[in-house]
Amino acid sequence: MCGIVGVLGDHEAAPLLVEALKRLEYRGYDSAGIATVNGAALDRRRAVGKLVNLSDLLVHAPLAGKAGIGHTRWATHGAANETNAHPHRAGPVAVVHNGIVENFRELREELAGHGLNTVTDTDTEVVALLTQHYLAQGLAPRDACEQVIARLTGAFALCFLFEGEDNLLIAARKGSPLAIGHGQGEVFVGSDAIALAPMTDRITYLEDGDWCVLTRQSVEIFDAKGNRANRPVKTVSIDATHIDKGGHKHFMAKEIAEQPTVLGEALSYYLTDAGIALPEPGLDFTKFDRLTMVACGTAFYACLTAKYWFEQIARLPVEVDIASEFRYREPPIPARTLALFVSQSGETADTLAALRYCEDKAMIASVVNVPESSIARASDIALPILAGAEIGVASTKAFTCQLTVLFLLALKAGLDRGTLTPEEASEHLAQLKALPGLFNAALAASPEIEATAQKLAEARDILFLGRGPLYPLAMEGALKLKEISYIHAEGYASGELKHGPIALIDQHTPVVFMAPSDGLFDKTVSNMQEVMARAGKVVLVTDARGAKAAAEGTWRQIILPEVSPALAPILYALPAQLLAYHTAVAKGTDVDQPRNLAKSVTVE
Ligand code: AGP
Repeated sequence: MCGIVGVLGDHEAAPLLVEALKRLEYRGYDSAGIATVNGAALDRRRAVGKLVNLSDLLVHAPLAGKAGIGHTRWATHGAANETNAHPHRAGPVAVVHNGIVENFRELREELAGHGLNTVTDTDTEVVALLTQHYLAQGLAPRDACEQVIARLTGAFALCFLFEGEDNLLIAARKGSPLAIGHGQGEVFVGSDAIALAPMTDRITYLEDGDWCVLTRQSVEIFDAKGNRANRPVKTVSIDATHIDKGGHKHFMAKEIAEQPTVLGEALSYYLTDAGIALPEPGLDFTKFDRLTMVACGTAFYACLTAKYWFEQIARLPVEVDIASEFRYREPPIPARTLALFVSQSGETADTLAALRYCEDKAMIASVVNVPESSIARASDIALPILAGAEIGVASTKAFTCQLTVLFLLALKAGLDRGTLTPEEASEHLAQLKALPGLFNAALAASPEIEATAQKLAEARDILFLGRGPLYPLAMEGALKLKEISYIHAEGYASGELKHGPIALIDQHTPVVFMAPSDGLFDKTVSNMQEVMARAGKVVLVTDARGAKAAAEGTWRQIILPEVSPALAPILYALPAQLLAYHTAVAKGTDVDQPRNLAKSVTVE
């Protein structure tokens, strides 16, 4: 998704803007630009591709001025080219935008009637032209922006800069996150706190519908009704270590390697001498007869995995939905339902919309990695996963931390509902505490995983298969691989092989079996035989017992430590992540910012 920054500072704005944009690169983008006001003059520079192209341009064509705005663009309307890059300008106003203005076509026609014609393919240019239109009628910038913001429909975060105004920024948020940074006699705007970390850790998060008028000396915030609003200033701890690669080649490699540490931090947060401790107001599962879980992408696969745990451990009926379907299907939500939303960013538009649908129907819980995010703030209880900033677009440590927190919730549900004894819970917790150590032990399989990935990189299609809670993991493994290596991959339940996918099997098709030696292993061995009988190339991911029983005839074997069947999906995420990572490296794709993808999908 796009990234926005704004600066009213004591120093030249251009370097600060570019530095802030670098910290938003993880969101995914295809062009970038800045605009500044120097004295009275408003000017801009834009470049296609990576930020380094914009930096090069600024060397040869510098921009002066201590007031400015900047943008990294993830194309929604219009190709990725300089013309469509932000900031967009119309006369005395420049604007940067994250989101989608859904009524831009009607506004474009209206403006054409006033002789104001667009020259780009974007929805954002219409915002600049409409502002120019109101300025031309004699409205002051704040009044013009108030009129404009009221007329836009869709989701947007905006920041406006005006010719002749080197001590004014106007910003607004509706659906897309936006924060204000407070400096000493300086003020900043950013899509998130990470962007603003080099300049300040004092952050105000705008609420949906808020807009604000900023000067170096004042911050005026107005709510959706136009009333003055007081939003708290929080000190946000985004330290620099979270934003560098820690000696790894890619953020994804660093974040995979961090898993033993962050899993341990999540466990330390939730496990006390008294057992499982949840943040206020807690969750009493005796109050619920069913659980609805809603998410997107990797977070959705975490929910699908947790369905097995809640149903088997707590005997709690569970429905799991993709947010973009749930929000429009508008399912009935019976009384005594707990609605649980899982999201790393806490800003995914579809997941937030699904949460809004449930607000007056059920208690809202969320499992998030950003405690100040929109989804967290809209929840009755927000459960942090404590994975730390996840920069790689492909979610890794957040996924295993989500699973860890969801497993703890399933144990809590079992204890509350009397389907799990304290002794059984203690046994599960002992195994959970051993998980970080198992992750470190599993890293010993990295050379074999890397060698296997070199082979997978030659494939055109790859299947991932699993049974039980390893079935959602098979789908997650396929998603990881496809999203960073661009190889087509599908995840299936092993038992579904004969219902269609087996038609894909030939000597060119690697099939990755996620198969710990659990109660379903023998069934999976049968599936493996069916694949090998058709010359398919089996990659068996299992433990020593599984390898001893069934490795014969397989193409590659990846051996993991033994793990309790319930926790296998968490540990087996590691080889899935590493297979994807090394395959992408072998193919030379952009591992941290794969093509077409964004870290946080804040538009639907
Ligand atoms: C995961 O590797 C993908 N980048 C993507 O599917 C992601 O999980 C999805 O967009 C949901 O994001 P969220 O967890 O921030 O809501």
